[in-house]
Amino acid sequence: MPRTLGPFALALALGVLGGCTPDAPVPSVSARLPAPAPLPGSSIPLRHGINVGNRLDAPTEGEWGSTLDETLFEAIAVAGFDHVRIPIRFNAHAAAAAPYAIDEAFFRRVDWAVDQVEHHRMTAIIDFHHYNELMEDPAAHADRFVGLWRQIAARYRGRGPTVYYELLNEPNGKLTAEAWNAILARALREVRAVDPGRKVIIDSYFWAAAKELATTLALPAGDANLIGSFHMYQPILFTHQGAPWMTPEFQTPGVLFPGPPPAPIAPLPAAQKVSWVAGWFRKYNTLPAAENPSGPTTIAEEFEYVRQFTAKTGLPVYLGEFGAIDKADPASRVAWTRMVRQEAEKRGIPWTYWDDAGSFKLYDPKARTWNADLMGALFQPR
Ligand code: BGC
Repeated sequence: MPRTLGPFALALALGVLGGCTPDAPVPSVSARLPAPAPLPGSSIPLRHGINVGNRLDAPTEGEWGSTLDETLFEAIAVAGFDHVRIPIRFNAHAAAAAPYAIDEAFFRRVDWAVDQVEHHRMTAIIDFHHYNELMEDPAAHADRFVGLWRQIAARYRGRGPTVYYELLNEPNGKLTAEAWNAILARALREVRAVDPGRKVIIDSYFWAAAKELATTLALPAGDANLIGSFHMYQPILFTHQGAPWMTPEFQTPGVLFPGPPPAPIAPLPAAQKVSWVAGWFRKYNTLPAAENPSGPTTIAEEFEYVRQFTAKTGLPVYLGEFGAIDKADPASRVAWTRMVRQEAEKRGIPWTYWDDAGSFKLYDPKARTWNADLMGALFQPR
């Protein structure tokens, strides 16, 4: 029988734990199951995944407060996830000058993380994350980016089909759609020279925006192993409310999903000064649920862009990140997470929650428990 749900997820699906239980312990590892079948409507054998962010994508592992360990991969597998996206900042561990040698000790750490995922019978996504210098000065960093991929592909080409590559997380800034299309084609040529059949995930410009996936991402023709990727954080004023890495107009707390709120809320002065944000809050405070910008219409718009990409390219699509910050109202987080995940699954789009223990946290690594309400939103049948 193809794997669909792990024991934690299965218990939720059967209603054993319900949607409002206290945090549940991680079940025993004895319940490991075989690899998953694709979601109906999808051609890629991924279903439900999680990002292990803030470790190998920190400037150095540990600098952002935690490190990867075996118990985490164990817990992820046992909970019912079938793949793990591993964000990795290769650029922080490589020489500045050609041939841009990647530090061997760092490579060994990445090997270990990939081994962990494979050992737990999941698919590992090697995701090149936070190459900020490339976004700031693409011309100066393009050769290095390509040279780093030459080494990554050479290192992992012997791995089985349960290792995927993701060329670059969230292209943005001066790495415009046009610049990105040119650079991704070069990096892909390097990968294909040594690893022709590997699944390669490619994000669209503007932080993997669905709209850019539909309108600007240009992928080399004739490569059936490419996967288009987008991230879903809309409405961003809900999912990123109060995020310390966001600018002041994103700091208004108490935004609910779905809107409108029971009583209008006043956006912070910094939010009122930015016209699209002020306009968003006017609609949020007044429009009925069906038209509210913090509601299903916004989510449907994103998925419509994704449909357009699929219609245009015939390629599979992957939702590499979605999540709502833990500062948001818990019931709203659950409602939003459930809706996004259901809309993705309806269309055969595999999803990967952001993240396990960062600001969007699903897992408590000290107590080794999952947030049961969010797990319900991810795994309970509709
Ligand atoms: C970034 C994280 C951030 C998340 C949501 C990720 O791609 O790496 O730092 O928390 O997106 O904004």
